[in-house]
Amino acid sequence: MKGIILAGGLGTRLFPLTKVTNKHLLPVYNKPMIYYPIEALINAGIRDILIVTGGSSAGDFLKLIGNGKEFGLKHVNYTYQEGEGGIAQALGLAEFFADNDKIVVVLGDNIIEKNIKRQVEDFEKQKKGAKILLQKVKDPQRFGVPVFSKIAREQESRGAGEEGNKIIKIEEKPKEPKSDFAVTGIYMYDSRVFDIIKTLKPSDRGELEITDVNNNYIEKSEMTYDILDGWWTDAGTFDSLLYASKMVAETGANKMK
Ligand code: DAU
Repeated sequence: MKGIILAGGLGTRLFPLTKVTNKHLLPVYNKPMIYYPIEALINAGIRDILIVTGGSSAGDFLKLIGNGKEFGLKHVNYTYQEGEGGIAQALGLAEFFADNDKIVVVLGDNIIEKNIKRQVEDFEKQKKGAKILLQKVKDPQRFGVPVFSKIAREQESRGAGEEGNKIIKIEEKPKEPKSDFAVTGIYMYDSRVFDIIKTLKPSDRGELEITDVNNNYIEKSEMTYDILDGWWTDAGTFDSLLYASKMVAETGANKMK
């Protein structure tokens, strides 16, 4: 399985912090933001990694990460997204790298407390389709939100899936969320994801949406889900960037246990 980190986009929600540098190079407590998704993939046993970057300071990724020696890697792959055409557009640039393999995608501003090893192993066994990871949040209207076939009870554990509670669709940033869960920015896909991306039309915000990709798999009944262990946050707004630094300082991130 191959790993793809999406670190394109212009980071406008963090302006002026992102006026002269890339959002994913900003500090989250004691490391640059991009370190966290790299470690998340490595902890899941994935060593073949592509970073999709873009916007300003793209060259600084090379200076910072190089061939990944600091992470115990021999080589890191890079590609460049022009503009801000959306998460799915950035992922589309990875088709050549993926080369018909299954992929794990992590958004460059997503940080996790623990690890995704178990979920990646489960997806390795999954014959086809996709897998998303959910986490309970206080502000679901900021995210992609799953709508369940049964009203979500206290779904603290991964037993949620076993009870037959299916996701019937995902709504992107709904004003009135139908569950308390966010679809985190960690996605697993089979190689057909690139064909799906080619069929997408830009959303109202002018982007190719990853939620449309996920809904396509849901419509085919080929989407599985699991609940992330530990805390999860994005770091793409002033408040979430502060929260991420606080959580990393207090508990650490990317823990194996
Ligand atoms: O963090 C999880 C959320 O990420 C999901 O719940 C949402 O369903 C998903 O749409 C996304 O929401 P955001 O609106 O918060 O995504 P944002 O535009 O902040 O982009 C997140 C990362 O994706 C960003 O750090 C880099 C990458 N990205 C984004 C865009 C728009 C790209 O690589 N290229 C892009 O054009």
